[in-house]
Amino acid sequence: MSNQLEKVKELIQLREKARLGGGEKRIDSQHKKGKYTARERVAMLLDEGSFEEFDMFVQHRCANFGLEKETYLGDGVVTGYGTIDGRMVYVYAQDFTVFGGSLSETMAQKICKIMDQAMKMGAPVIGINDSGGARIQEGVNALAGYAEIFQRNILASGVVPQISAIFGPCAGGAVYSPALTDFTIMTKGTSYMFLTGPKVVKTVTGEDVTQEQLGGAGVHTSKSGVAHFAVDTEEDGLNLIKRLLGFLPQNNLEEPPIMETNDPIDRLEDSLNEIIPDSPNKPYDMYEVIGAIVDDGIFLDVQRDFAANIITGFARFNGISVGIVANQPKVLAGVLDINASRKAARFVRFCDAFNIPLVTLVDVPGFLPGTGQEYGAVILHGAKLLYAYGEATVPKIAVTLRKSYGGAYCVMSSKHLRGDINYAWPTAEIAVMGPSGAIEVLFNKEVAAAEDPKAVAAEKEKEYRDAFANPYNAAKYGYIDDVIEPRNTRFRVIRALQSLATKKLMNPAKKHDNLPL
Ligand code: HXC
Repeated sequence: MSNQLEKVKELIQLREKARLGGGEKRIDSQHKKGKYTARERVAMLLDEGSFEEFDMFVQHRCANFGLEKETYLGDGVVTGYGTIDGRMVYVYAQDFTVFGGSLSETMAQKICKIMDQAMKMGAPVIGINDSGGARIQEGVNALAGYAEIFQRNILASGVVPQISAIFGPCAGGAVYSPALTDFTIMTKGTSYMFLTGPKVVKTVTGEDVTQEQLGGAGVHTSKSGVAHFAVDTEEDGLNLIKRLLGFLPQNNLEEPPIMETNDPIDRLEDSLNEIIPDSPNKPYDMYEVIGAIVDDGIFLDVQRDFAANIITGFARFNGISVGIVANQPKVLAGVLDINASRKAARFVRFCDAFNIPLVTLVDVPGFLPGTGQEYGAVILHGAKLLYAYGEATVPKIAVTLRKSYGGAYCVMSSKHLRGDINYAWPTAEIAVMGPSGAIEVLFNKEVAAAEDPKAVAAEKEKEYRDAFANPYNAAKYGYIDDVIEPRNTRFRVIRALQSLATKKLMNPAKKHDNLPL
């Protein structure tokens, strides 16, 4: 065998060794936990044969606690680039078979390298997390590695989409990288995120909790709002990333891809002409409205189980990717509260950063009153949503279906926050507050003094209703551009989107804004 062939053979052997990560035994143990290895995950995520790996020969440089005798090619993370549906992405996947996927200085350098490449090339970054946190033997060097990653997450925010999959442990300060990215997906039962684990919690607060109760997928997608999606399997999670990317541009200077559709733009949905119940307090399901108007009824619900009184997600109108924000009358009457405001504000800002037009469907009785909300700073959180809509320069279309009361009227993509096209259904009611509240404030003395208080209250309510429980009062002032037939909503939204395709709007130059946090 020639010298050169010898060297080629050696390369092939080294590659095989690197592909084994922490070895067969640990790979088996990973599989037994119902988890895939880092390489298997990358292979499932990317288009077949598209993966180009970086830094397969990187090894840690730590000589503490005998670590110099234990090295692995690639050092605990698989990094590189490839394509998803033909579009370039950069990816890293922590390899739990090498020191539990714990982050070393060199591992951080590998991750930072592909993040830097992604920024230069303007492509999304996908991180698959499965790690015991900072590599304990490395001390501050591991912490420094995390901070280097965080810094890049921050600079990439709003420039390229960043998606985090949590397919195993993600604890300690390590959770801050996913928190800085745009979307976080967790597998049910096998992933968890927390700053301090159950043992520390027990010591400090005396609380007894399991990992699942403290930071499982259910907790973060329904209670804390830290994660956006909970999935049953890793396959589901990886497929979700592909679906999600289909709605997004590669970076903030590009437009989202347009998908061909056979769904007619002028499809009439007769059911929408009868969807609003006669009683103002009876709910209906906003998902039915969304499903009826978007292309093929396809909607990717973002944070479905968190603050379900507001719906956020992606859909298409005649192939154009949009972000939908919609009050959900079926949950808490669609009221805006702290969590709904936080959820929608972050979504609106994401869409604005990545040139995704916003379609807002309004049916909101106002902000939720009470000490719980006030003490929790609903003023600041509500202001976030107000701010997000007000600063957004992407096309903004709103359709008011029924109630739009008080501050919530101003917030939900109103004309006054530079809403481009504002439509209303004939059932819309746009007023400072609902009839019974208004009568209580305006006529409480008159009602109390009346012989038949109920009759007087009902009469006053009717008067108020006749004046404000319609869209024409707002349309009179041009705050509503047109009152539309509900069954024609799809067509009107598509026409509006087409008319706004060339929209140009810039905010004043500034170092950065001061969003109420
Ligand atoms: C070095 C680690 C490690 C770590 C796990 N391992 N975590 N090595 N540093 N942080 C190694 C184990 O020694 C073991 O090596 C292998 O990975 C698998 O770990 P197991 O414990 O056998 O696996 P499992 O039972 O599944 O438990 C997983 C685990 C547990 C829950 C993640 O390993 C664990 O609690 N690790 C420590 C978590 C932690 O406290 N990390 C620091 C958080 S603070 P062998 O050779 O046996 O395969 C932090 C600060 C970041 O991260 C701050 C950023 C700003």
